[in-house]
Amino acid sequence: MYTMLPDSPPHLPVMPVEVRELAALEPGSIVIDGTFGAGGHARLLAAGLAGDGTYIGIDRDPSAEARFRDFAEEVAPLATRFLRMPFPDAFSLLLEEGVSADAVILDVGVSSMQLDEPERGFAYAHDAPLDMRMDPSSGAGAAELLATADLNELTRILREYGEEKFARPIAKAIVRRREDGDPITHTADLVEVIRSALPGGGRVLKGGHPAKRTFQALRVAVNDELGMLDRGLDLALELLKPDGRLVVMAFQSLEDRIVKRRIEAWSGSCTCPPGLPVCRCGALTHAASLTRGAQKPTAAEVAENPRSASTRLRAVRRIEPPRLVRDEYGAAL
Ligand SMILES: C[S@@+](CC[C@H](N)C(=O)[O-])C[C@H]1O[C@@H](n2cnc3c(N)ncnc32)[C@H](O)[C@@H]1O
Repeated sequence: MYTMLPDSPPHLPVMPVEVRELAALEPGSIVIDGTFGAGGHARLLAAGLAGDGTYIGIDRDPSAEARFRDFAEEVAPLATRFLRMPFPDAFSLLLEEGVSADAVILDVGVSSMQLDEPERGFAYAHDAPLDMRMDPSSGAGAAELLATADLNELTRILREYGEEKFARPIAKAIVRRREDGDPITHTADLVEVIRSALPGGGRVLKGGHPAKRTFQALRVAVNDELGMLDRGLDLALELLKPDGRLVVMAFQSLEDRIVKRRIEAWSGSCTCPPGLPVCRCGALTHAASLTRGAQKPTAAEVAENPRSASTRLRAVRRIEPPRLVRDEYGAAL
């Protein structure tokens, strides 16, 4: 049986016990990991396959591909495959190929490695070109976004994706700086602009570094993180065999809200008018929730791995064929 190697990467997979239990893998299972990252969850789950099964890893970041090669060597003879593309695209491709999985895992957001590589421009704590693309070969980076988006668009991004209270003043300061012919090209430029827009230069604010929310918002926008999740979830469910498991970890409330709403929609609800003695709407259940609300990491895990603190985990079991939510007499099934 494959066991975790002592030199596995420094990245600690979040909520490992919960993920392993909810994925419920057995030797021979097929797993699709939409966010391979450093392969932390991959190593954990591959251990449950005992060398017999298939592990398909997906990541849009080119640096994940080399890490996947190491993983594939470690877990041989497990069958492995890597797709370097956004997970919704990979899910569509796998559906076209007729692949169906026992488990799909999504651990969305930025990885510790991306945050810890200053030259990627994700971190306000290190001066670097302002890029923030998970796939640096595709789309526009953060500096380009700041140079082109208009005031209203910038305000919306900061407010919606960063839940930044001072979205408007910060957006105004960004536009003012670019109108002065001084483009924001580096992380330190942006931190300076943010500080200039905040009361007391950002020093009096509670809730962490004054640039935290703006950086988060730009990263979400640059990588279309919410759109990807929105597009990917239905495809992920469709990829599952009957009774297959989907396990999703989100790191911020906006992502978790998308997952929660989608699970509610899959669970279905009877829309018949109140008092109707028999169910006529024929609402269907496509998935049954395996978690009550969102699960959070334990205090012990947060103490060991502080970056896990805001994780929210939800999981479902696919019901295929879909089942009626209520029988024709109105009783919940
Ligand atoms: C939080 S990390 C995953 C960590 C991984 N579970 C582990 O234990 O090592 C998220 C990873 O997913 C990738 N990612 C995020 N959004 C993606 C998307 N829409 N498509 C493909 N990869 C994505 C990022 O590049 C990053 O490597």
